Amino acid sequence: MAKVLVTYFSATGGTRGAAEAIAAELRERGAAVDCAPLGEAKDIEGYDAFVIGAPVNGFRWRPEALAFVELHRAVLAGKPTGLFLLSIMYGLGRPSARRRALSFLDPALALLPRAKAGYFGGTMQGPAPWPLRLAFGVKKDAPLDSRDWPAIKAWAEEFAKELA
Ligand SMILES: Cc1cc2nc3c(=O)[nH]c(=O)nc-3n(C[C@H](O)[C@H](O)[C@H](O)COP(=O)(O)O)c2cc1C
Repeated sequence: MAKVLVTYFSATGGTRGAAEAIAAELRERGAAVDCAPLGEAKDIEGYDAFVIGAPVNGFRWRPEALAFVELHRAVLAGKPTGLFLLSIMYGLGRPSARRRALSFLDPALALLPRAKAGYFGGTMQGPAPWPLRLAFGVKKDAPLDSRDWPAIKAWAEEFAKELA
C-alpha cells in the first residue's frame, strides 16, 4: 500500500478542503494517506508519494509551498508528486486570466518537471472587489466558492494511477 503525504498551505480553508478531498479519493483507491498542513509533515523520506497544494496569493503560488518543494526536491524528484493551486483568476476569470493562472506553478515545475500539476478555482470570503472584477473579469455576482469538486476528484483519480 502506497504511503502518501498530502500537505498544504491554506490561509482561509479553501485549499485545506481541496487537499482533504484529494486525500479521501486517494484513500478510496487504496493508499494510506496523511493529510497535514505544510510544516506539520514529518519524516518526509518515509512517504512513497506526495501532493502539495497552496493558493495563489499576489500572483504567486504561496512561497511556503515553493520552499517545501525546494527543500525536499531530491526526495520528491524520485517519487510521484502532484502539485496543485487554488486561484480565483482560474476559477472565475476571463480566458486571459485563466491562462495566466496556469503559469503560477511554473517555478515549482521547473524544480520538478515530472510532477503532475493541478489547477483549481478557489474561494473568496466576500463578493469580488472591483479591482478583481476589472482586472480579471470576475463577475460581481460570482460564487464565493469556485472549487470544481468533480475536477478535483478526477485529478486525484489520475494521480492515483501513478501509485500503482
Ligand atoms: C490576499 C490574497 C491575495 C490573492 N491573490 C490572488 C491572485 O493573485 N490570483 C488569484 O487567482 N487568486 C488570488 N487570491 C485568491 C486565493 O487564491 C483564493 O482565495 C484561495 O481559494 C484561497 O485559499 P485558502 O482558503 O486555502 O487560503 C488571493 C486571495 C487573497 C486573500
